[in-house]
Amino acid sequence: MNPPELVILRELLDREPGFVSGTALARKLGMSRVGVWMHMGKLRAQGFAFEAVRSRGYRLVRRPTGLNPLLVLAHLKPGSRQADLLCLPEVDSTNDEAERQLAAGRPTPFVVLARRQTVGRGRFGRVWHSEDNGNLYASFVFRPQLEPGRMQTFTLWMGANLCELVANFCHIEPGIKWPNDLYFSGRKLGGMLTEARVDADQIRDLVFGLGLNVNCPRAALPAALVPQATTLAECTGHPLDLNRLAAAIIGRVLAAYEQFVEDSHRSTFADMWNRFDLLRGKPVTLVQGSRRVAGIAGGIDDEGSLLIRGENGRPQRFHAGETTLLEH
Ligand code: BTN
Repeated sequence: MNPPELVILRELLDREPGFVSGTALARKLGMSRVGVWMHMGKLRAQGFAFEAVRSRGYRLVRRPTGLNPLLVLAHLKPGSRQADLLCLPEVDSTNDEAERQLAAGRPTPFVVLARRQTVGRGRFGRVWHSEDNGNLYASFVFRPQLEPGRMQTFTLWMGANLCELVANFCHIEPGIKWPNDLYFSGRKLGGMLTEARVDADQIRDLVFGLGLNVNCPRAALPAALVPQATTLAECTGHPLDLNRLAAAIIGRVLAAYEQFVEDSHRSTFADMWNRFDLLRGKPVTLVQGSRRVAGIAGGIDDEGSLLIRGENGRPQRFHAGETTLLEH
């Protein structure tokens, strides 16, 4: 059953900027108006403020701008896929918390969100700067029971979905730098870190981590990141509603995961990838361990491997590595 605070919030958000009568809220919740008032007090304690007008009721006049689990839940589209939500003020890494929850037997799917990570990490063990600064740190957790070979395109498919979601939500055109970087205008907007555990030739646990720069002012990022990073607020010119965006991302990732598992994503994947692929036709270098390859990127093959045409003109396939775009 939904907590009364969530029911009240949904009613108020649905009617925004209008009022909802105390009687209607009391009827909806099956409690007295005093009971409603008490639950609204709990919302006030979280940073919500309401205007109360005699004979009209209540309306929402202020909401917390930081990550708020009730607001995320209230913004999830009715009828969208369901997942349990774990929203933490601070954690070492949402991916690590996901692992712990999996090990403790938590049913999937579930989502771990945090305001701040103390040991946020990126690919190749790099640090992912994760202060409580209005950015998004999230892990989406599944037990897919798919054969490992199927997973090669997973992060790419998720990246394409996230780009489309950001394009629709923010009215900008982001891009993906194969295999896991989200970019806008030559600067990094976010990154994905997919981690899987294989058991008897099946993917047992799958953790899809996403770090997205949303509202942190770029100048507040560590100095080394400032020249190469951007945020959605900078790209759009205004701060974003973090909780509404988080809800939209959750809905999209869960839907994309289902399509991936059903294998019904293939018909749209190529078009989506081509729309957001930042590398195709451009000079790139790829680093794979101690190996370094330079050439012109030629998109991806059916397995999600990157094609690079070197000096001899023949395309080579790479299923892993880190790419650098030589010009934006
Ligand atoms: C990269 O670009 O190298 C990937 C960055 C992934 C960062 C996210 S933030 C949420 C999740 N938890 C982590 O510790 N990392 C991922």
